[in-house]
Amino acid sequence: MYKLAVIPGDGTGPEQIREGIKVLTAVAEHEGFKFEAVTYDFGGERYLRTGETLPDSALEELRGFDAIYLGAIGHPEVKPGILEQGILLRLRFELDQYVNLRPVKLYPGVQTPLKDKGPDHIDFVVVRENTEGLYCGAGGFLKRGTRDEVAIQNSINTYKGVERCLRYAFDYCRLRNKRRKVTLCGKTNVLTYAFDLWERVFSALGMEYPDVERDYAHVDATCMWMVKNPEWFDVIVTDNMFGDIITDLGAIIQGGMGIAAGGNINPEGVSMFEPIGGSAPKYAGRNVINPLAAICAGGMLLEQLGERRAASMVEKAVAAVCAEHLKSMTAGRMGYSTNEVGDLVVRYLK
Ligand code: IPM
Ligand code: MN
Repeated sequence: MYKLAVIPGDGTGPEQIREGIKVLTAVAEHEGFKFEAVTYDFGGERYLRTGETLPDSALEELRGFDAIYLGAIGHPEVKPGILEQGILLRLRFELDQYVNLRPVKLYPGVQTPLKDKGPDHIDFVVVRENTEGLYCGAGGFLKRGTRDEVAIQNSINTYKGVERCLRYAFDYCRLRNKRRKVTLCGKTNVLTYAFDLWERVFSALGMEYPDVERDYAHVDATCMWMVKNPEWFDVIVTDNMFGDIITDLGAIIQGGMGIAAGGNINPEGVSMFEPIGGSAPKYAGRNVINPLAAICAGGMLLEQLGERRAASMVEKAVAAVCAEHLKSMTAGRMGYSTNEVGDLVVRYLK
């Protein structure tokens, strides 16, 4: 029996999570384990009603779960930043989910905007540092609102934070056992302090992994190679900000936000899984949003719980649905409704 905290969130989040839970329930039954789910209503509606984003008491409760399943956060009537910082980033930071794991995998049948590239070329993962860098909120204003204004936003990189993220990347690369290559994505030619640290730890740690090839690419070049030669990548490891940016590029080459999933991982604590697209309020409640991203996030959640067979079952079912049913799937046009896609995935579980 696993204890699952569910935060459906805003916009299309609840519809996506509904299909994800449908699949998790079906696969659990198949494999003979159970979920006990507790739903939390954090998000824009609750904030507008009560002024509360994430109460401290709830945060303590969340520490007691085996995993968290998150829909989407973001509401058109709430000023940008409040919910993101108050809920999503706060959870990542407080629960010390120091890795944001984002697979970039093109399933057969899914269209990519990359010419002449297919599933054989697009299959890598990004390990994004998730608790430091520019996301720390370190900095401030001086003389705000005047012509003498100074705005400072600091990128914090600690030895401990960098090392544990890199170690995760190396270990994950071994486990994945594909090209056995880790590419550090940075900007050593300009960010000469932050990425100097990253590079030194990368080289030193790499010695412990002689079976894993090490490579380096600047972030701008990484963007270029992701489009031109995505097959070069196996595991990309990078800081928080660069990871945020390159994983949107990753999402689009794997078929769009409808399929891109991610995990906020604390290997020693509680991890949280989410579709990486936003809340898409304009499509909310219309049963048109693609739930595959949430379903894939559910698959990652199973993997983290150690239910590897169940996780692989979900992935295979998603791949089959893409290949058999969503052949013409492009961003925003599925040809199926949200619940039909969930039903299809359940049908292909075996
Ligand atoms: C993501 C999102 C978040 C981030 C936002 C919503 C704060 O873009 O998960 O990639 O920047 O990390
Ligand atoms: Mn992002």
